[in-house]
Amino acid sequence: MHGTFTKSALLLTLSMGFGHAGAAPSISPAELATKEGIPRPAVIAHQGASFDAPESTAAAYKVARDLGADYLELDLQRSKDGVLFALHDDNLQRTTDVATKFPERKNSPANEFTMAELKTLDAGSWFNSAYPERARPGFVGLKIQTLDEVIKIAEGNPQHKPGLYIETKEPKLFPGIEADLKDQLQDKGWLSSAGSKLGKSNTGVGQGKGRVILQTFEKDSLKELQKEMPNTPKILLLWVGEDGMEPKSKVTFAESGEPTKAAYYAKQEPKDAAEFEKWIDDAKNLGAIGTGPSAQRTDLNDQSYSDLVKPEMNKLTHDKGLLVHVYTVDEPVDFKKVMDAGVDGIFTNRAAELLKYYRRAPASSVSQLLEDHGY
Ligand code: G3P
Ligand code: CA
Repeated sequence: MHGTFTKSALLLTLSMGFGHAGAAPSISPAELATKEGIPRPAVIAHQGASFDAPESTAAAYKVARDLGADYLELDLQRSKDGVLFALHDDNLQRTTDVATKFPERKNSPANEFTMAELKTLDAGSWFNSAYPERARPGFVGLKIQTLDEVIKIAEGNPQHKPGLYIETKEPKLFPGIEADLKDQLQDKGWLSSAGSKLGKSNTGVGQGKGRVILQTFEKDSLKELQKEMPNTPKILLLWVGEDGMEPKSKVTFAESGEPTKAAYYAKQEPKDAAEFEKWIDDAKNLGAIGTGPSAQRTDLNDQSYSDLVKPEMNKLTHDKGLLVHVYTVDEPVDFKKVMDAGVDGIFTNRAAELLKYYRRAPASSVSQLLEDHGY
């Protein structure tokens, strides 16, 4: 079943008190998106085209760009010598050969490596082992990308220039990273629009006012981002659990007896409607133009979390004058479910599939683009 609530979910939602969402919106989602220069619905390529190529590498970002994604998404970290780069995990084990190159430091956080050291790592071969059906010889030896390099990729196709959707990842590990990011975006000319407006002659969102969106799970980092870049759109990411919304149940995954984390998260929900609303109000009051809630995926894979995009949740968020960009869904059944629930954009690992769903099918296939780029 998709696009509608199950009976139990509906009862749950009503029992949480979302049935009375409040006053009419001060600005509609469509008006807000236009004002901010953000496509609606937005196609946000999560760590690039990361279903088809190793996440956060040049291959993943070039394919996402050339497919026509609106945004290249990245998780921002800072090397020991101060270079900003893209990496999701806080250590290098899952997505590089750090255990071979630096066995004694394999568990160290990525920020304890210099950029020269990080650049020695192979950030592609793990993908070939994990996903043999999508493996390519050209992925072997792919490198971790600096922010500068991702910016160059975003600027590199004259026919389509995506924007950047940048998350301050674990910002407590990187004091001052918000100011560093501002300096670098400013230096590269990315804090002002490049001139053209969204429209027929535009070559992509990367030319307009909404060319950068900043995202974080942490309210303190949102405050810093707002201080450093007050005119750049920001999203507060939403999550139920540690450092996020207080959950209704305090039972841990280990105590729950659930077979997978996804099954556990599927049963997690905010403590009550007031807890959900508090996070929406905080997002607004701290300067965000929207929220990035988690989604429960039909396949319950390892990126399936609590369902924070129920229709009445999205309505409440819209009524408070905010957009909703949901993370992270990849299948048409879930694209339909979250769009029917009212979201304004989707983080996806499968930009090609989402573009097809929106009838913005790319001219070239993923495999053609990978070949064109020598992968
Ligand atoms: O940034 C949106 C989404 O990516 C947040 O979760 O863990 O995939 O970075 P994560
Ligand atoms: Ca992210």
